[in-house]
Amino acid sequence: MDRSFSPAARIEGTLEVPADKSIAHRALMFAGMAAGTSRISGKISGEDVNSTRRCMEALGAQVVEEGPGVLVVTGTGWSIPAEANLDCGNSGTTMRLLSGALAGRKGTFTLSGDPSLSRRPMLRVAEPLRLMGAGVETSDDGRPPLTIRGGSLTPVIYRSPVPSAQVKSAILLAGLQADGLTTVQESAPSRDHTERILAWLGCRILRTEGQISVQGGDQLFVHPGFELQLPGDLSSAAFWLVAAILAPAAEIRIEGVGLNPGRTGILDILTAMGADLEIIPTADAPEPVGTVVARPGLLRATEISGATIPAAVDELPLAALAATQAEGTTVIRDAEELKVKETDRIAVLAVGLRALGAKVEDRPDGLIIEGPTPLGGGRVNAAGDHRMAMTFAVAGLIARVPVTVTGWEAASVSYPGFLDDLKKVAG
Ligand code: S3P
Repeated sequence: MDRSFSPAARIEGTLEVPADKSIAHRALMFAGMAAGTSRISGKISGEDVNSTRRCMEALGAQVVEEGPGVLVVTGTGWSIPAEANLDCGNSGTTMRLLSGALAGRKGTFTLSGDPSLSRRPMLRVAEPLRLMGAGVETSDDGRPPLTIRGGSLTPVIYRSPVPSAQVKSAILLAGLQADGLTTVQESAPSRDHTERILAWLGCRILRTEGQISVQGGDQLFVHPGFELQLPGDLSSAAFWLVAAILAPAAEIRIEGVGLNPGRTGILDILTAMGADLEIIPTADAPEPVGTVVARPGLLRATEISGATIPAAVDELPLAALAATQAEGTTVIRDAEELKVKETDRIAVLAVGLRALGAKVEDRPDGLIIEGPTPLGGGRVNAAGDHRMAMTFAVAGLIARVPVTVTGWEAASVSYPGFLDDLKKVAG
């Protein structure tokens, strides 16, 4: 589906964005693994979270919508059927986290996904889970579908070759079911939603510099259930923040948004570029939450690399868009992970931004962007990737002439209400 986005003279208003997708996946999984009834509230939306809900239902959890934005989940105590075929849709988080969670259950579980998910690398979870004793089959080149033959697990100390919260979480969820202490080491910290929520639920989590451990035992599976209010998704908020910073006139205020330090890399990047951002923390546990206000400002180029990459991994396309409007040469490196997201985001960004007139060079591990270049209109392809679709929509809001996004429907994976929110704020 094609959708055109026209330049906005003004972007103004207060928004409450959809519930944090990463936390929503975990809340639904952990509620479905617990023994009692849990209540999860927030603006839960998007096809990805629905994929997790459907998988948990297929494994025996009951999920009922009690009212707008409130899901009541009756858990299984992780006593589940010995066989299941689970459709993870477009969601890498669903597939990778569930692989770890299922590795400790006796049975045979097949996890499959849509064409985009079917191209994504799975050896990064298969290898550590095999080391722990699970049977994990992938296609010959390490892609889905995955078949997990679960059973008793041995704890491991595993150094993850990529800083990835999905890999770390899969190992920790398997580790919960192993007899002893399972440790994951990372070269740079990835988002820590799994360990925060598990610790909040009473699981024994140990953190030291560069590593995180979980003590096996069944605490989660006997948990009587919990109440969790989900914060807004900073990854969704980021579209409006960047739109406001790049617009001729704007003030955007996003309330109740998650500010987990493993996710705030985009705020650091925009601040380093000289953006006018105000960050007001309002709550801290189990997840930091606050209000973020953005206004237009003159941007300068920056370098984005190292530990900032995992903390901004989903927002790097937006950082690249901002860089097209910044004075100087912005370098994004150490970001080879972008090649194995829902699409090859380095290639799709380079082609799309160049089509709009930006000066962008793609590299194997990132992008070099020279700015500022006014963006012209044109047609760009989202390549089936929700974040690319919305990044190009923001490009349309700040371009001189409309931008048409081909494959707009992908946006519903994480932000089905994007166009409604756009109507509220764009003038
Ligand atoms: C996620 C982790 C990140 C991120 C993804 C969600 C999560 O992936 O890109 O959108 O919820 O754990 P990696 O862990 O593979 O970097």
